[in-house]
Amino acid sequence: MRMVDLIEKKVQGLELTEEEIKYIVDEFVNGDMPDYQMSAFMMAVVFNGMTEKETADLTMAMMYSGDIIDLSDIKGIKVDKHSTGGVGDTTTLVVAPLVAACGGSVAKMSGRGLGHTGGTLDKLESIPGVNIEQPMERFKEIVNNIGVAVIGQTGNLVPADKKMYALRDVTGTVGSIPLIATSIMSKKLAAGSDAIVLDVKTGSGAFMQTVEDAQKLAHLMVQIGQLVNRQCVAVITDMNQPLGMAIGNALEVREAVELLSGKIEKGDPLYEVCMLLGTHMLILSKIATSEEEARKKLEEALYSGAGLKKLQQMIAAEGGDASYICLERIDELCNVRRKLEIYPSEKGYISSIRAERIGTAAQMLGAGRATKEDKIDPAVGLVMNKRLGDEVSPDTPLCTMYVNDDTALEAAINTFRSAIEISQNKPEYRPMIYDIVRE
Ligand code: URA
Ligand code: CA
Repeated sequence: MRMVDLIEKKVQGLELTEEEIKYIVDEFVNGDMPDYQMSAFMMAVVFNGMTEKETADLTMAMMYSGDIIDLSDIKGIKVDKHSTGGVGDTTTLVVAPLVAACGGSVAKMSGRGLGHTGGTLDKLESIPGVNIEQPMERFKEIVNNIGVAVIGQTGNLVPADKKMYALRDVTGTVGSIPLIATSIMSKKLAAGSDAIVLDVKTGSGAFMQTVEDAQKLAHLMVQIGQLVNRQCVAVITDMNQPLGMAIGNALEVREAVELLSGKIEKGDPLYEVCMLLGTHMLILSKIATSEEEARKKLEEALYSGAGLKKLQQMIAAEGGDASYICLERIDELCNVRRKLEIYPSEKGYISSIRAERIGTAAQMLGAGRATKEDKIDPAVGLVMNKRLGDEVSPDTPLCTMYVNDDTALEAAINTFRSAIEISQNKPEYRPMIYDIVRE
């Protein structure tokens, strides 16, 4: 086989065989194929797409490029969730313990944040003592004992994606739906769970800017999962504003603790998306047979405090000081040199929020990384005071910034301001949940 022939085949829009796709991935991962050939191939995919069969074959070839996690030592159905990147998305810290409190098994490997989206691992590490690097045996033991563990990736999972993503990032080939689907699903399948709930974000702060594109990505990922006998459901949710009010690591842990303490009302976007994800995780785990039953179980786990207790147990099992994980003490993790309120310059309604810019503003304050080497300040970030559609005036703050280092403060304030648009008319209602994709 010659790579140039396979590139030409894709340029002509012909379907590649399983062997051909496997050849491409293997040669690239082995270092036997130059980056320029892989780049040319991926660019051809951007323009000509891939068939469902090609997409599934590529996912499998990528998945088998490294270690596959075997979770069979964990009893019951193992369920995982994945969000396609959101700002203020603290769902894992809420929904994983809630599902465990309902009897589910959540064995989750999570990632770090880069750019404007925060990573669950960075949030967990804002709690003193937490060690997200747990050996595989200990990871499984924690899930068997308490029903939930969220740790960093162990082993060499999907090296093909690491290499391909680095190349996509610098060749304008990130935004291809089949390439995104294969990238996400190869990693989720290699991580070993039996059932996966996918949260595909759509809107200004998301990879998928339109609901139609989000639906295409969702269908493709669910189909890939089903081809290898994993139960998959995708939900499509709004990312036209940050999901929660907090953006920053300890600040998001605090919001998760508030939610798990019953302090966040039904109807709140973070609350509703957590319930939605939890509902489908319980159904796929065969713990509930209907959405009503699942929601009832989740609410019982929430309002009885069982979910918060699971989060405390998980933190303790990973070496963390769980005494912070309560309303009485969580503020201690959010101590900063100063808090700064940002006010609007005019009266009106918030008509648009560029979620990714809110994330960037928090990153500039030190809550996120611009490069992999950057160090995070766990306490800093910002807390929104207003949501899309809210009425505002110059005497009520839009947000509170939590600041330790002033170096980029002015840039953060300007970026935050540029994210918020105020109009004189109340904007149209926008749904939080657009679709549920099961096949
Ligand atoms: N997230 C991923 O893991 N891969 C993509 O390609 C896009 C989002
Ligand atoms: Ca995330």
